[in-house]
Amino acid sequence: MNEQILTTLARIKQARPPVHIKKDGSYRCVGLSNEVLDFLLETIEPGSNTLETGCGLSTLLFALADCNHIAIAPNSTHIEETKKVAAQNQISLDKVTFVEKRSEHFLPMWSTESQLDTILIDGGHAFPLAILDWFYTQQHLRQMGYLILDDIGLQSVHVLFEFLKEQPEWEVFRIIHKTAFFRKLTNLQIENEWDYWHKQSYNRSIKTKIRQVYYGVKHRLRF
Ligand SMILES: C[S@@+](CC[C@H](N)C(=O)[O-])C[C@H]1O[C@@H](n2cnc3c(N)ncnc32)[C@H](O)[C@@H]1O
Repeated sequence: MNEQILTTLARIKQARPPVHIKKDGSYRCVGLSNEVLDFLLETIEPGSNTLETGCGLSTLLFALADCNHIAIAPNSTHIEETKKVAAQNQISLDKVTFVEKRSEHFLPMWSTESQLDTILIDGGHAFPLAILDWFYTQQHLRQMGYLILDDIGLQSVHVLFEFLKEQPEWEVFRIIHKTAFFRKLTNLQIENEWDYWHKQSYNRSIKTKIRQVYYGVKHRLRF
């Protein structure tokens, strides 16, 4: 890995610049942990097509690694602070596109000709935002591309984590504290299916079967 990238990353990891503004106007950094930033760097390369929901230290890392990157975040101060830190550290943002919007509004309308190599989902954490982020981006992820979910301890993200773990199309590659790295093994084949819930392992668990029987009986007996 390029020495200059490692030196700049080390500086950022040490400073953890406070790019995220709080409601009271004070700044703090709720960026990916240093260990996750290190591992993320190993999974990307110059020219990778990458997308993240949210912005901050991760954006700086994608920029440092010379990725063609899209960062989606509705908060202009987070974007401005991220740009400021980039300038202070001579990180070029030439290949970074900032989209100042909520991802749930932007992504349904977004499309791309090129496949993505890496997706980081670390934007809005309220239910079901991580799921929407995944839903609208995953079809653009290439086979063996990386999907990174941060904050898997939060119930709203954990649901997606549990779902992906069950699906044969996805493989857990690495979990670092509260961040999961998945790889996409294949696309779910849904051609000619008018519904495909039954193709999802998540819907074939014993728990689901018991629940279905329970609600079926409840429906028939009207209780
Ligand atoms: C935990 S921070 C991201 C941290 C970043 N990955 C890093 O390493 O510094 C969450 C980010 O999500 C953004 N955000 C909040 N709601 C969002 C939404 N609905 N769509 C997209 N981004 C959102 C916030 O502006 C904030 O920048």
